[in-house]
Order: sequence, then C-alpha cells, then structure tokens
Amino acid sequence: MNSFEVHIPTHLFFGSDKADPFFDKLSSYGSQVLIVIGGGSVKRTGYFDEVTSHLEKRGVKWTLFEGIEPNPHAQTIDRAAAIGKEKGVDLILAFGGGSVMDASKAIAGLIYSDQKNIWPFVLGEPKYKKLKGALPVATIPTTAATASEITPHAVISNPEVKGKSPVSYSFFKPVTSWLNPSYHTSLPLETTRDGASDIFSHVIENYLIGGNDSPLADRYSEGIMQTVFETLPKVLKDPENDAYRGDLLWASTLALSTIQVAGRVPTVFILHNLEHALSGYNPELAHGRGLATLYPAYFKWLMENNRVVDRLALLGNKLFDIQTDNEDEAAAECIAMFEEWLKENGLYQRLSDVGVPTDAFSEVADYAIRVYGGGEPLDAAGRLGKKEIIEIFNKTEEQNG
Ligand code: NZQ
Ligand code: ZN
Repeated sequence: MNSFEVHIPTHLFFGSDKADPFFDKLSSYGSQVLIVIGGGSVKRTGYFDEVTSHLEKRGVKWTLFEGIEPNPHAQTIDRAAAIGKEKGVDLILAFGGGSVMDASKAIAGLIYSDQKNIWPFVLGEPKYKKLKGALPVATIPTTAATASEITPHAVISNPEVKGKSPVSYSFFKPVTSWLNPSYHTSLPLETTRDGASDIFSHVIENYLIGGNDSPLADRYSEGIMQTVFETLPKVLKDPENDAYRGDLLWASTLALSTIQVAGRVPTVFILHNLEHALSGYNPELAHGRGLATLYPAYFKWLMENNRVVDRLALLGNKLFDIQTDNEDEAAAECIAMFEEWLKENGLYQRLSDVGVPTDAFSEVADYAIRVYGGGEPLDAAGRLGKKEIIEIFNKTEEQNG
C-alpha cells in the first residue's frame, strides 16, 4: 500500500425521496442562486419546475443561466459568470450533466475571484495562473458519467483554439449533491452509453498502470467495472427503470472518488489526456464516446509493447472469469471479450467514424503532449510520445465493426 490522501467533502443525497434534506442543506449555503442548465432537457422533462419550487418554498431567490453546451465552451462560461456577478449570486446550482457541473465550478471560481475569462486558468495555457477560490456549488447530476458531483475538476473546451483542458481546485468540490435516479430516465440511449464508457475509464486507467500495491483498490475498481458491464445492457433495454439507472449513477460517483486509486502508484490518466485532445479537436465528440473508441486500440498497443500484460490478465480473470495461467492468453482473451461488449452495446467504432480523420492525428498528438505532458512524452508504464500516440490512433482504424 502506498501513501495517499482522500478528501470528499460533498454531502451526498441519493434517492428520489431526498429532495427535502438536499434543498434544506443547499439553502444553508446561500439565498441567491444561479441555476445553470444545458440546452433545455431539464425544462422539457419538467424536472426544472420541481427544482425551482423546492427553492421557492425555502425563500431562495434564483436566476437562470441556460445554454451550457456539451463540452462546455469557455466563452459561454464567461458570459454566465458576468450574469451571476451582476445579480449578486452567492451560490451556484448545477442542474445537468458533467458539462453543466464543470461549467458551474468555473463560473463559481470566476465570480469569487473577480475574473472575467476562464481559459487562461486551464492546464497548459501560457498564462496559467491561480483562481483565489469559488462560490459554493451544489449539483444535481442528470447523467451517470463524470462524477463531477464530487470531483475538484472542471473540464473546459475552447473551440476557438481547438482546445480542451481541465482546471482543478479542491475548492471546486461541490458542497452538496443530489443523486436522483428518476432524473436519469429521460437520458437518450446514446448519452447513456457514452456515460457508461466514461465510468469504466475512471477505474481502468490507474487499474492498468498503477501497479499491484493496493488489493483493495483493485477489488473496488473491479466492482465498479462489473456493475457497469452488467447494468448498461439492462438500462439500454429498460431505460425508464429507476433501479438500474440508480445502479449506474452510484457507480459513476464512486468511480472517480479517489478511493479507486488509493494505495496504488499515482499515475496520469492517459486515455483522458488523449480523449480530451480528441474532443478539443472535434467539440462534437462526446467524452465517453472518444474513450470507447480508444479502449481496444490502447489495450492491444499495451500488450504488443509488453506493458502491463499481468494487469490485463488479472482484469480478464476478475471481470470475465478467464481461467488460465498463461498471462498472454488471458490478456488477449480479456481484450477480445471487452471488444465484444463494446460491440454489443453500441460503443465500437473508429476515430474517423467520430469526426477525427486520420490526417488530424498528428495535430491531436501534438496537443496532448504540449498540454498534458508539458511538452514531454506521457508515461503509460513507459514512454508514450507522439509516435506512440499516433500508433494507438491508427490502431482504432482497425475497429471496423
Ligand atoms: O444540454 P442538455 O439539454 O441538458 O442535454 C444534455 C447533453 O446534450 C443531455 N442530457 C443530460 N442529462 C439529460 C440529458 N438529456 C435528457 N435527459 C437528461 N436527464 O446529455 C448531453 C450530454 O451532456 P454532457 O453534460 O455533455 O455529458 P457528460 O455528463 O458526459 O459530461 C461530459 C463532460 O464532462 C467532462 C467531459 O470531458 C465533458 O466535457 N468530464 C468531467 C470530469 C470531472 N468534472 O471530473 C471528469 C470526466 O472524465 C470528464 O472529462
Ligand atoms: Zn472521464
């Protein structure tokens, strides 16, 4: 077991019957709320009126900012922060998916720190500097994907420079979040699939390259992966089932809680670095979809380069009950079974199918290295430079399913 820190300050409420305690808690943090939503799904479904009536019952005043895009744009965040500042809000309520929650954290940071633009604060920018703090953020996630409802991260996109990069502070961690599975039953199947892929990524990243030092982190991560593997097909068949939606939602929160890596060697999230560069290039590419495109190629590339074969074999044993002492065989079978699961659940494609053509691979790899490696190769149990990144991207082109 290696040393680690865990800090999860968010007061979580899980369940559709938890509205009252959640809104009581929320109202203890402020009385002038900026409600931040996306393109309107929460209005169309009627959820929005429920939420505002809970606020009004408690005498909480609210202002709405509507229009956060998937892969939230820095420029939209800047506009929202200006409105929040003008209205004198003291609390942000993020009501939507990861994009809305991330945008809300950035808005909270800009208002508190009396700044106008978020982009200079993201990782890898030449003008990178520090925010001073943030207004409290409460969240009601409507996707099971990012765990932004507990994380310190806000991932920001900037289509003007084809960039996508995080800004992370401990003070971005939401003060309270309401996980209400009923608000997930309207989620389109495509977004549900993308979200499941993202949940999976948050545990597989360090599971593969973080070493063998924490058996409990291994079991915890396998439990989350198993839950995703079993639950996604059920949700796709029965999308309005609250219980299945709840299983995915709780798995998503726990997947990026930091407990999933506790005791292993801390590592960067390689697939995330590559995927953020891909979504930066194509802002229409959903994060989970980009990750799904990379999985088989990345796993095969690791194997061909004789990296973490033991971990792939362990995964095969735990997830698919592959029983052989031959590590190469177990790892190869694990990748094949995983690939099959992606196919069965509509998550199998090439990068060129999701709006990143092969002639963009070099530019995307350069971005990943500049922003995520600080100009140096990344480390995926060994060097992962531009050449290797392009090899992985090229490998996705074999995924013609
Ligand atoms: O905008 P609306 O109209 O709400 O529609 C959204 C959007 O089109 C729709 N949607 C969400 N909830 C719905 C719904 N439609 C119907 N019913 C509902 N209940 O779903 C679409 C996608 O939403 P989005 O928020 O973009 O998806 P997701 O939750 O996957 O968030 C992705 C963003 O989070 C970042 C990603 O990079 C990406 O920018 N991440 C944030 C992390 C964090 N903060 O810690 C970690 C992750 O690894 C990730 O990078
Ligand atoms: Zn992710």
